[in-house]
Order: sequence, then C-alpha cells, then structure tokens
Amino acid sequence: MSEQREIVTIDGPSGVGKSTLSRRVAAALGYTYLDTGAMYRAVALYLQQLQIDLDDEEKVRSTLSSLDLQLLPADGEDGDVGVVVGGQDVSRTIRTPEMGMLASRVSAIPAVREKLTEMQQAIGRAGKIVAEGRDTGTVVFPDACWKFYLEADPEERGRRRVEQLRASGQEVDARELLAMIVKRDRDDQERTLSPLQKAEDALVIDTTSIDIQEVCRKILEFVREKKSC
Ligand code: DC
Repeated sequence: MSEQREIVTIDGPSGVGKSTLSRRVAAALGYTYLDTGAMYRAVALYLQQLQIDLDDEEKVRSTLSSLDLQLLPADGEDGDVGVVVGGQDVSRTIRTPEMGMLASRVSAIPAVREKLTEMQQAIGRAGKIVAEGRDTGTVVFPDACWKFYLEADPEERGRRRVEQLRASGQEVDARELLAMIVKRDRDDQERTLSPLQKAEDALVIDTTSIDIQEVCRKILEFVREKKSC
C-alpha cells in the first residue's frame, strides 16, 4: 500500500458525529486529524473581517492569495483543532452556528474551494490522515483507502449540535438551530461545486441510534480488516 493512500475520509452532513469520530479514529490509528470544515469556517471569518464582497470572485481570489492559515493539534481527545489565521487564534470564534452558515456560503465560491482543496491535498500528501468534511472522499482524496459516509435523522443531528454548543458554553435556540442545519445541508448538497454526496466506494453508516463508541469500533474494524486498497 502506498503511503499516499493511507487516508481515511469521513463525510456527511452537520451534527452526524464526524468530528468526534474522526478525532477518535485518528487517535486510535496514530494518524493526523484533518478538520476541513474548520478551514472553511476560518476563511469565512477572514473574508468577513476584511469585509470582502463575496460576490466579487476576483477580489476573493486575490485576498486568499495572502491567507495565512494554520491548524494546530486538537485540544485533548474530544477537543476541537486549533485554528490560527494571520497570527490570530480564531479557534473559538469560528465555532458558532452563524459562522457555520457563512462557511457554507463561502464554500460554494470556486476560488475558495480551489485554495482549500489544494491546501488539504498538500497536508494529506504524506498520508496517515483522517479527513472529515463534505467532499474529502469524492474530491480532495478520491484515492483514499478507506471512505465513510455518515448519516443521521435531522432531529437527532440538531439535538447533538445543541448539546455540543451548550457544552462549549453557547446558548442556542433548538428550533432555530435545527432550521439552520436543514438549510445548510440542503445548500451544501445542492451547490454545483463539490457538493455533499456519498463517494461511490464509501461505506454508509447511519448513526441515528448507534452509540458513538460502536460507530468508532465499526470504522476501526473496517480499516484494520481492509488492509490493502
Ligand atoms: O463541518 P463544518 O460544520 O465545520 O463545515 C462548515 C461548512 O463548511 C459546511 O456547511 C460546508 C463547508 N465545508 C465544505 O464545503 N467542504 C468541506 N470539506 C468541509 C466543510
């Protein structure tokens, strides 16, 4: 097996358990966890802070040419990755539902996708990566060894997101959050460029009523059994 293909991809809609699972799978395998959503969120914040007109693609493209984005290791087994943009620690600022919506909007801009896909592929070049997002199995790492696509009922995903945000100290309205999640997933699925979709060769796991530890066990079992690809 070539080093380059020692990549696990975990895609799916929001609140499906991707982050927790990716972190745990990465820790168990000794791989690096790559949170591609954090990168879209960081770019959304960067463009917002600079007040860039998102309809002006050339401006977006030229602004991104000076993007200085760094990812730091996750904070503990269940912590988020650290994100630093232009020397500013934005790890917490990007984790709001509003920044998720803005990230979804900027993720449909070709210049943004080109830039971040290139960065993600550079990070994955050495292999031993667990990448999570929307297009990691379809576009970013189409030749990844192990691909997973997670699904769960929207109500359950909304409930998990509320729990996650409250645990991080954010007060949220559950109904409003569910409406945002449903809109964001629809937009992510319907966009032309790299939409959220299952890779043909991905294993689909419905996490609605399975305990996260059980899903993690299933993923690791699959990875360890399918030794070559
Ligand atoms: O995974 P997340 O909630 O942090 O992602 C935020 C948004 O970023 C998501 O709604 C769409 C976009 N995104 C994307 O287009 N492609 C990815 N690989 C990851 C995220």
